[in-house]
Amino acid sequence: MKNIYSNIFSFNKKILSKTISFLKKGNVVGLPTETVYGLAGNAYSKKAIVKIYSLKKRPKINPLIIHYLNSERAKNDVIINDNFLKLYKKFCPGPITFILKKRNKTKIHTSAAAKLDTVAIRFPSNRIVRSILRKTDFPLAMPSANLSSRVSPVQAADVAEDFKKKIKIIINGGRSKIGIESTVIDLTKKPKILRPGIIGPETIKKYISLNLSKNSRKIKSPGMLKRHYSPGIPIKMNQKKAKKNHAFIVYGKKYRKNSNCYNLSKKADLKEAASKLYKILRIIKKKKYKGIYVSKIPNHGAGIAINDRLNRASK
Ligand code: TXA
Ligand code: MG
Repeated sequence: MKNIYSNIFSFNKKILSKTISFLKKGNVVGLPTETVYGLAGNAYSKKAIVKIYSLKKRPKINPLIIHYLNSERAKNDVIINDNFLKLYKKFCPGPITFILKKRNKTKIHTSAAAKLDTVAIRFPSNRIVRSILRKTDFPLAMPSANLSSRVSPVQAADVAEDFKKKIKIIINGGRSKIGIESTVIDLTKKPKILRPGIIGPETIKKYISLNLSKNSRKIKSPGMLKRHYSPGIPIKMNQKKAKKNHAFIVYGKKYRKNSNCYNLSKKADLKEAASKLYKILRIIKKKKYKGIYVSKIPNHGAGIAINDRLNRASK
């Protein structure tokens, strides 16, 4: 792909040191991760946190995920527990975010955690973010690098499209491998998945016991409010075919390839489908369809996360 944006850079030593000095001054940058691209800033800096919320137009009540190189570095900011250690050992670095109790003496800026007494922490596996984390003495607050309530970015150009020149550095790390945001799990009481991701409940249950109840009355993850991930046009789920002038998102091999038909995975692989979801939503949005129809997608494994995002977008 030709780089038409002057604020997108390939990763090398020069851009690494420029990025680090940028972050030290409280500026924010666009970074690749294995899940989706993030808008990163120093989690201890008020200036950086204010910038992240205002750039994204994000409601102040929606807390950010704090990204660390490893658990050792997170210990000053959160209180870790046995469930955390079990999952950390198995899945980190990787696409899972843990909600833990915040330490009183933490340096995380209070508005990064939306003034809650808990913090979301994650250990990304992407080598570019890790090389930045290795060379800084602060963690990175990093929401997905999209305007609030829009589709998450899965390539550097998506970030540039949403923010234009308002971000001075976006590092190009190619297409996000996983393509859907991390699983968020609350470990402050009986573990509960707040946001489904590629690591599903079936897998997590092998290591710790989970609270699988559906409805907790209080919204625990403010970012899980309805009408999220919106491509800006109506979405109808569980459809057998699509109306004229509508896009049809399908899954599996039984669908004919019409020009309005977008297959998440011909070979019916849920991980492949998750990795293509946001890319396809962005393509569809540019084509001026009146709406989107979606075929049935199996609701297990990564399918839970796909259905969750599409359901939310359809509200
Ligand atoms: O894969 C990911 O997690 C990406 C990459 C960039 O790391 N980040 C990401 O961040 O998706 P964001 O800000 O778009 O989503 C963070 C989610 C939101 O739903 C937010 O409400 C929830 O995590 N969250 C953050 N702190 C929380 C807390 N203390 N309690 C409950 N939910 C929290
Ligand atoms: Mg997001």
